[in-house]
Amino acid sequence: MAELVGAFAASHGPLIAREWDRLAPATRKIIDTAFTEMGDRLKALKPDVLVILSPDHWVNFFIDNLPSFCIGIGEEHDGPPEPFMKAVFPHDTLPGHAALGRHILDCALGADFDPSISHRLKLDHGFCIPLWRMGLDPIPAIVPITVNELEPPMPTIRRCLAWGRMIGEAIASFPGSERVVLLGTGGISHSIGEPTMGEIDEPFDQTCIELFSNASDADLAATLELRLQSTGNGGHEVRNWVIAHAAVGSKGFDLIDYAALPEIYVGCGFAEWRMVA
Ligand SMILES: [Fe+2]
Repeated sequence: MAELVGAFAASHGPLIAREWDRLAPATRKIIDTAFTEMGDRLKALKPDVLVILSPDHWVNFFIDNLPSFCIGIGEEHDGPPEPFMKAVFPHDTLPGHAALGRHILDCALGADFDPSISHRLKLDHGFCIPLWRMGLDPIPAIVPITVNELEPPMPTIRRCLAWGRMIGEAIASFPGSERVVLLGTGGISHSIGEPTMGEIDEPFDQTCIELFSNASDADLAATLELRLQSTGNGGHEVRNWVIAHAAVGSKGFDLIDYAALPEIYVGCGFAEWRMVA
């Protein structure tokens, strides 16, 4: 059977790519050091497949068609469509893993989830900034899974925990020898296109870090549902961290780094989950 060998999370603020050459050296160093450490840890696990959880930033879906969850089950996917991403990460296509994607879909349906599916997703900066900054070469096959965390109504935190547990079980039951790593991208706090744009809610970020470190799933769900009501809209992307957390059994995590970086509008977090309690 396939083996889920690791789970990580990282922020993906678009200014990391769009403004990289213009960022203050100290900001670049923080981002570079954290992504390099995460990349080293991920490469050491020798993954054959990455299951990546990210929001779709309006490149595949819009308000006329907006799934809560969409699983990419194609043999390949399109590289980033944003010009600022193409400039630094010039991949027209990225490899998919159709068999694992289809297996996760079948397991989801069997567990009474009703996700959307795509045979070809465009993988925007949410997927590609971590791939770019971690320096993965070659890039492993990817099963992309989008989560609606841009536009209400969004899946509840409780539902994301269940979705994560289902993904973990699906990977463990896949009849192959693949080594699989999960990567949740986004968050932590930020505020985009609203009056608080640019504000970073460090207390929210610290709450998230404490919850992922040692809270029960019930406490994590209750606390996040409450706190998400009063933080910036970008904080909703923490759902991808929640899903990764649940997929590997909610055993706590090792924070690689956290830094509030006003220059890129994001409370930047980087983490690796524990695989054993
Ligand atoms: Fe985002």
